[in-house]
Amino acid sequence: MENLDWKNIGFGYRDTDYNIRCYYRNGQWGELEISSSKRIDIHMSATALHYGQEAFEGLKAFKGKDGKIRIFRMDENAKRMQSSCDGILMPKLPVEKFTEAVRRAVKMNERFVPPYESGAALYIRPLLIGTGPQIGVKPADEYLFTVFVMPVGPYFPEGFKPTNLVIMREYDRAAPQGTGKYKVGGNYAASMYEGKLAKEQGFSAVLYLDAREKKYLDECGPANFFGIKNDTYITPKSDSILPSITNKSLMVLAEEMGLKVEQRKVPYEELSEFEEVGACGTAAVISPIKGIYDSDNDKWFKYGNQEEAGEWSTKLYNKLRAIQYGEEEDKHGWVEIV
Ligand code: PLP
Ligand code: COI
Repeated sequence: MENLDWKNIGFGYRDTDYNIRCYYRNGQWGELEISSSKRIDIHMSATALHYGQEAFEGLKAFKGKDGKIRIFRMDENAKRMQSSCDGILMPKLPVEKFTEAVRRAVKMNERFVPPYESGAALYIRPLLIGTGPQIGVKPADEYLFTVFVMPVGPYFPEGFKPTNLVIMREYDRAAPQGTGKYKVGGNYAASMYEGKLAKEQGFSAVLYLDAREKKYLDECGPANFFGIKNDTYITPKSDSILPSITNKSLMVLAEEMGLKVEQRKVPYEELSEFEEVGACGTAAVISPIKGIYDSDNDKWFKYGNQEEAGEWSTKLYNKLRAIQYGEEEDKHGWVEIV
């Protein structure tokens, strides 16, 4: 892989050598299979294609200074995929099958894990889709689980440089009692239109308010939201946001650093009180936010010195990365060396 510009690979699809597949047929999951094909042969009436019966995950593997490859909290992703399966009536994949597929996908594509110095990582994309044909709106009889990987840089091109978010009240990504808490394709399809508008206007992402009342903060299109004020890490509690594993980890680290942690409804008005604000997720890591534009009221909320991330966000970012790259003791058992 010597001809890859590791420092500037960005976040995009790239071919790698192998992917792992596992089929659900006749009421049971089969054995893991290895494939080098990037194609899947799918029935034109598959439920994934018509009715969005599909769930995916996103996690990363990191190469440390010691040359070892570490996968971050994959059991959490396995459990979250099970929750998505419950949400849209797909058969649950056993956690052990999920983690074994992830291990193998990483191992078999080892040459694509970016070198330590690059700060890049191997992005792992597990995907579970309804492949069996239906034409009525009901679950398929057959499913395919697959795991593929690719080397990636930061999701927001600015990396750890502060960027801007926008609030647009006329768009929602998920309904109040809908599928927002599951990692299912429909939520992302629903966010594309306003996501494109936001990008065209120079923003990194949309910051969604709660769809019912538009009074509370929910999350960003591809990441959770947090704010810090008075030595307190504050992050929205909502039924329509994805329970982020990065956010869950940051809450633990924040507490260890001496911050108070609050997961609760966060009223829109609190945007004017935060000292630091960030978006967090596997792809986004921590993306510091320098400004939030409320497009309906033509109002800006600005954070920090506009040039660099705030003190706490920087500490949290460094700590999380140090655990992921194996530079800090992994006292919570968050990483597995493969
Ligand atoms: N929220 C949404 C909508 C996401 O797509 C993601 C990405 O996975 C996250 C939050 C962050 O979750 P995690 O930290 O588990 O990657
Ligand atoms: C992730 O952070 O893993 C995501 O899935 C976000 C985005 C690429 C959808």
